[in-house]
Amino acid sequence: MTQTTHRSHWSNRWTFMLATAGSAVGLGNIWKFPFMTGVNGGSAFVLVFLACIALVGIPLMMCEIMLGRRAQRNPVDGMLALAREAGASALWKWVGVVGLFAGLLILAFYSVIAGWVLDYVVRAASGSFKGVDAAMAQSQFNTFLATPLELVLWHSLFMVMTMSVVARGVNAGLEQANKILMPALFAILLVLLGYSMAVGNFAAAVRFMFTPDFSKITPGAVLSALGHAFFSLSLGMGAVMVYGSYLQRHVSIVRTTFYVAIAETAVGLLVGLAIFSLVFAYDLEPGAGPGLIFQTLPIAFGQMPAGNFFATLFFLLVAFAAWTSAISLVEPAIAWLTENTKLTRKQAAWLIGVTDWILGIAVALSFSVWKDVKLFFGLNIFDTLDKLTTNILLPLGGLLMALFAGWVMKTPHVQDELGLAGAPYRLWRFTIRFISPIAILMIFMYLLGLV
Ligand code: TRP
Repeated sequence: MTQTTHRSHWSNRWTFMLATAGSAVGLGNIWKFPFMTGVNGGSAFVLVFLACIALVGIPLMMCEIMLGRRAQRNPVDGMLALAREAGASALWKWVGVVGLFAGLLILAFYSVIAGWVLDYVVRAASGSFKGVDAAMAQSQFNTFLATPLELVLWHSLFMVMTMSVVARGVNAGLEQANKILMPALFAILLVLLGYSMAVGNFAAAVRFMFTPDFSKITPGAVLSALGHAFFSLSLGMGAVMVYGSYLQRHVSIVRTTFYVAIAETAVGLLVGLAIFSLVFAYDLEPGAGPGLIFQTLPIAFGQMPAGNFFATLFFLLVAFAAWTSAISLVEPAIAWLTENTKLTRKQAAWLIGVTDWILGIAVALSFSVWKDVKLFFGLNIFDTLDKLTTNILLPLGGLLMALFAGWVMKTPHVQDELGLAGAPYRLWRFTIRFISPIAILMIFMYLLGLV
């Protein structure tokens, strides 16, 4: 397919891989995965999540990168161009449109949680974890949540950080920084894990996360695991598609996907083990919800030698991981605006930034003064945005992308783009045609009480 505009491309395959890993590794791994595992009863959630990564996540990530690279456009116009190429309906562009909005809805709450992390950087640096016990860590966190002004200020700062990078384009500076900071995050995670193993109850954490107990699997847990596989790999809304559209032709999509998926899953599991070792050692509540890491990690850092230093570094790196993810949440919308309107990148970034910032304020307030404002199904504002995007919009987007790539696109086009032939191609195609869509559909139908 020909290129419409002179679009920028990643400088090489490493920068693409880093950017994609940077998008995938974020609050989803460090904040969300442990708390969801806790809320959903441990191992059942973890095992279903791993199955979803393997059966749905990895094939779909290849699919989404492939769609983007072939289209060479933003997700909306890209889906339209691919549909035309395949002689299919123009309605396919709605996959891109819905994805674009899903990204903005996610960013609204993502930015608020990233704001918590920024606050914890400052707390760590000022030594406020020194010697805290479980009760103190909890009350510090709850007091913080009940101070809406602070939440809003940190959310504002994070939004400005995100938009100022996006405004400039994902520049070499950030790619460069990623190269140092992502390995640093990994290293400090290992330190944390080692420490948690030494002082915490590592055996109980392993049992909690990995002992198969399928009696605990509820339909809700299965849906959450599927949704989280999408969230964690950044799939189903066009983020990976737009990154793929900046990818040069010679880079292997298959190999890149495996690297990203492995790094991504490893980070989640390691953080989970570190957290639950502490949870069980200190008799904390595994199902504490979104506050879990903020209520457990200060205890460990507070006792560790040089704990202030490690805590500051840890939260700083988490903030960085969140930053590189947030960028990818707005990139589809920015790409669409700059390719379809007269707005410059900078104007587009500020327009979207301000709109999303306002939505984020509502989320920030939903942890205190607007706690009782219920939207759908009795959920508050934060839970509504989280559940609507993670459990519904992302899997739905992924389902449609899989159906499009598996049934609508022409085989030679797909093969050419993926660089696969023979048995590996047939395996991928079988998965994308049958396994992934059926898995997603069954989970949806189960939830609606249809099977
Ligand atoms: N994957 C990121 C995380 O785990 C969040 C994220 C970034 C995302 N871009 C996305 C989620 C696109 C869904 C879709 O924190």
